[in-house]
Order: sequence, then structure tokens, then C-alpha cells
Amino acid sequence: MHRSNDGRNEDLTVPRLGVPTVRSPLKLSTIKGDRIYNFVGDEERVLMDACLTLGEAGPETALASSFERAGPRELLYFEPQRLRVGIVTCGGLCPGINNAIRSAVIELHDHYRVREVFGFRYGFAGLNPDEGHPPIPLTPQSVEGIHHDGGSILGSSRGPQASEVVVDTLMEREIDLLFVIGGDGSMRGAYSIYEEISRRGTPISVVGIPKSIDNDVPLVDKTFGFETAFSIAVESIRAAHTEAAGYRNGVGLVRLMGRNSGFIAAGASVAAADADFVLVPEVPLMLDGPHGFLEALAARLRSSGHVVVVVAEGAGQDLLKTERGPVEQDESGNVRLLDIGSYLKRRIDEELGTRGIKHTLKYIDPSYLIRSAPATPSDSVYSSNLARNAVHAGLAGKTGLLVGSWNGEYTHVPLREVIHRQRTVDLEDDLWYSVLESTGQLALWGVP
Ligand code: F6P
Repeated sequence: MHRSNDGRNEDLTVPRLGVPTVRSPLKLSTIKGDRIYNFVGDEERVLMDACLTLGEAGPETALASSFERAGPRELLYFEPQRLRVGIVTCGGLCPGINNAIRSAVIELHDHYRVREVFGFRYGFAGLNPDEGHPPIPLTPQSVEGIHHDGGSILGSSRGPQASEVVVDTLMEREIDLLFVIGGDGSMRGAYSIYEEISRRGTPISVVGIPKSIDNDVPLVDKTFGFETAFSIAVESIRAAHTEAAGYRNGVGLVRLMGRNSGFIAAGASVAAADADFVLVPEVPLMLDGPHGFLEALAARLRSSGHVVVVVAEGAGQDLLKTERGPVEQDESGNVRLLDIGSYLKRRIDEELGTRGIKHTLKYIDPSYLIRSAPATPSDSVYSSNLARNAVHAGLAGKTGLLVGSWNGEYTHVPLREVIHRQRTVDLEDDLWYSVLESTGQLALWGVP
């Protein structure tokens, strides 16, 4: 057990279906130094804290707070040739989903010799027969070239399905291993399926693969798709800067996705190095008054002649309360956000007008453009590696886990430790400090 920053006790033990006894067909090694990749043993751990404060943490603490290392196991739980596997992609689309599907199918088929792999259509809805979307067979031929495209060849949907219905479907279709490719909500869905399976005592493994442009899955360094999304968002910030700098008192305003977390806005702003203000959901937004955003914006306009503002869609929602009718939710139960971008545009125009500052405001919202694209090379590598490690975990009989990465190593993370947490930008972390340093908004937010 390890007490983490959020005060919760972590138990990073990964559940498994039973003792693995089947020899892996992979021709790997157990000897270090023979120039052949080694099988990974369950005793291999990835430390949670890469940094130690000398004198504080003893070796036993470090050992307790560690993830199981992911990778191919020498002994498997499932007999590959008798295995039936399902893959489902859930939630918002995200770059790299097709890469993950393709890599899982090829790893299963070509390396483990698994013959039957099925893709469930349109998210968890595809696991409810009443929705009428029968699964499709996935083979190396059917996934050829799919990684060149964004989206998901299986389709997706938001929202859970009753876990009893899902497990009935898995049992009827004799699925032994289910891969859930999804974000934080989908991982909660995967966990309730795992719980229902455990309740029934049936040997079906559930393995999550974390995707999300929002980067909001806890206990993983990053989700796949995030890097592609923020890289594309950089173009919008650059365009906003060019437009703002091209006019006297030019204001460039960019709204980016990021419901509860400002990772995309923060990452893209640091990368573009063109933003003067970055507004994220993690930092309360104060518009008015001598220490408010509008005052700071006017001052920046006076000093540099143009300003670039990047706002995450979830920022400043409390300011829009008066504009809100009844709170609406999407199928996943997320509160539908109000449009902070248009609101800020109006408030900036009004404020500068009142101050008699003639200005030009260009508003850019790349919206779904940042998530419908194919994966960048780095996200292609990452999504594929996560998927391959998910296959290794599943074949070894691990269950109720997601495959993540931590301190540069691939890891097994029990879903029960993920589902109660929320991941947001840590205001004491390097990323947010880089935002403050690169924008110069240091004195305004995040710092008293
Ligand atoms: O998947 C994450 C995300 O892209 C958020 O950034 C955004 O708020 C949301 O999904 C929008 O998704 P949709 O309109 O498909 O429900």
C-alpha cells in the first residue's frame, strides 16, 4: 500500500484469472545479454516515484509503490489457438485508435496464433444485442492500412450499457478476452464489466487501453491521441498569433477541447510559444477587477500591441451560469459545456470598446479538427505499443487492468485504482509552470 498525493491508499496488485501454465509461443529469452528480447516476470516492477528525497523514503516504501511491468509473459493463462477475443472502442474519437486495433489484431494473429478476433461496433452499444450491431471479424487482412486514417473502423459511442447485458453477450459469443479502448469514462465501464464477470466467476479477462485527447486517465503518463491533438492545436495558436500580430491591437483567441482538464491548451501553448494567456478549467477564471483577466489583457495589449489567448473549453464555466438553462448531459453523463470562447470574445470586445481601444479580434475554434486526424508518428508508436502490451497482459490472464506507461516503462494498472480518480493539470507540476513561464501570466493565476 502506498498513500498517494491525493491521499488515497493505492493497492497496485493486478488481478488475474488463475495460474498461468501454458508456454508462450513467442520465441523470446530469459537470459539477459543474449541479444534476444526477454520475457517479463511478474516480479519486475516500475517505481511510482522516480524521484526520491534522500532520507525520507526507505527501500520498502519504494517497493510498495510500484506498478507491475508490462510485457510478454513466458507462461500464459489462455491457450492461444482456442482463444476468442473481442475489441471495442468507446467514447470520443481520438487519433491512434486504428493503430491500436491493427497492432492488437496482428500481435494476436501473427505472433500468438489466435484465430478468432471480433470487433464490437459503436462502443459498448455493440455489446448489447438490442442495439442491433453484430460484431465483425478482424483479421490481419481486414485491418491492413487502417492506421493511415483517423477515427475508428469499429465506430464508437458514448455511454455505458448494463454490465449484465454486456457479460451475457460475452458469454453467449464465447469471448474469453475483451479489450476496451477508451478514456476515463470507458475505463469505468470496463471496470463494471470486470466486476460483473468476477461476480459470476467466469474466466473472461478485461484489459483497458487508455486513449483520450484530453489526457485525463489517472495513473498513466499520458493517453494516446493527446500528443497528436495538441500538436494540431499548435497550428491554430500560430494562426491566431499571425492574425493578431498583423493588426494594430490585434487579439487572437483560440478555444480548444478539454472538458475537465487543460492539458491540450497547456501543451499546445507551451509548444507554440505564442500565447500570452492560457485559461484552463483547473484555475478559476476572474474576468473583472484590477487583478482580473480583462485588465491584464488590456495591459498586455498596451505593452506589446497584440495578444494571443488560449482557452480550454471547460474553463470559466461558472461565469456562464447566468446564461445556462437547465444543465444538460451527454450520453456519458458529462455536463454539456457552454461556449466560453464566444463569451470571452464578446467580453473582450466590450471591454476594449469601453476603454476606447480600437482593436481587431480573430476567434479560432479548431473543434473536432484536432481529434479526427490520424496519429502523429509518436502517437502511432505509443498506441501500437500499448495495444501489444495489452495483448501480452490478456494472454497471461491478467484482468481488471489497463496498460499504461509510467516513467518511460509500460505498466499494468489495476482499474479499481483508476476509476475513482480524476486526472487534471497539476498546478504544482512542470507543465503548468512552463505555461506560466512561456506566457508571462505568472503574476496572475496559479501564483498567489
Ligand atoms: O473525448 C474528449 C473530448 O474530445 C473532449 O475534449 C470534448 O469535450 C468532448 O470529447 C466532445 O466530444 P463529443 O462532442 O463527441 O461528445
